[in-house]
Amino acid sequence: MTRTIRLLSALVVACATNLVFAQAAAPAPAAPAAATTVEAKAAMCIGCHSIPGYQSSFPEVHRVPMISGQSAKYIVAALNGYKNGDRKHPTMRGIAAGLTEQDMADLAAYYEKQAKPAVADKPAREPSPQVAALLQKAACASCHGANFSKPIDPGYPKIAGQHADYLFVALKAYKGEPNNVVGRTNGVMGGISKQFTNAELKALAQYVGSLEGEMQVKPQSRFR
Ligand code: HEC
Ligand code: HEC
Repeated sequence: MTRTIRLLSALVVACATNLVFAQAAAPAPAAPAAATTVEAKAAMCIGCHSIPGYQSSFPEVHRVPMISGQSAKYIVAALNGYKNGDRKHPTMRGIAAGLTEQDMADLAAYYEKQAKPAVADKPAREPSPQVAALLQKAACASCHGANFSKPIDPGYPKIAGQHADYLFVALKAYKGEPNNVVGRTNGVMGGISKQFTNAELKALAQYVGSLEGEMQVKPQSRFR
């Protein structure tokens, strides 16, 4: 009897310890191995991509990009970019390293479906003459499409309405300045970003980010 009680209390202590440990470790991404449904796979993305206004402080404070409503093919391309090191952002590299091709395809399809209704081809807001000249100089719409929301290839990103502070960080990352902890290697956008000063990139980001787009931050409960 006493033995049973002692055993039981040992078990209770063990369970409680596990619980405390599990709670302390809660912000860490869920183990990918356990994820079978797409909701379970997305559980490790929610904490950053599904909280309105959620900011990252690296490499500077900016909102985490919206992925709900982004093209599936681009989401897969971006995730592979983190996985193979073309994109150096350390957190996303760590996340992408644990994703299989199947995980990426499932997550991309899941997020693509969360798009807002398609936007009109003509941007509701005209750019300033300065921004119009910058957009013209690199023919941004020739790839990112009408209203910067209908890319000519689904492997290219929709950028209209994306958080402006994130667009600015992304544009600077393509310059690949001598800083190997951030940065993105992309032949196309590398050549384009380098034609502009950071002030010009900021003006471009602010205009494109101010447009109506198809992406959104879709709050989700971790416990559905
Ligand atoms: C700890 C916060 C965090 C978590 C968790 C996280 N992300 Fe991210 N994600 C970011 C940040 C910050 C960026 C921007 C990185 C950069 O500057 O390249 C990003 C970028 C991305 C991009 C590129 C977006 C674009 O417009 O190019 C995709 C796609 C993405 N994440 C998907 C995911 C998926 C899928 C998951 C879950 C499996 C996930 N992320 C989990 C913070 C996070
Ligand atoms: C020749 C085609 C082309 C042109 C022209 C072009 N882009 Fe891009 N852009 C791309 C591709 C492809 C990517 C995805 C690169 C990658 O995989 O990181 C991209 C990525 C981006 C991103 C990153 C989006 C994200 O979610 O991380 C931004 C911002 C961007 N472009 C803005 C612009 C702006 C502003 C211009 C004009 C000054 C422009 N692009 C011109 C093809 C183009």
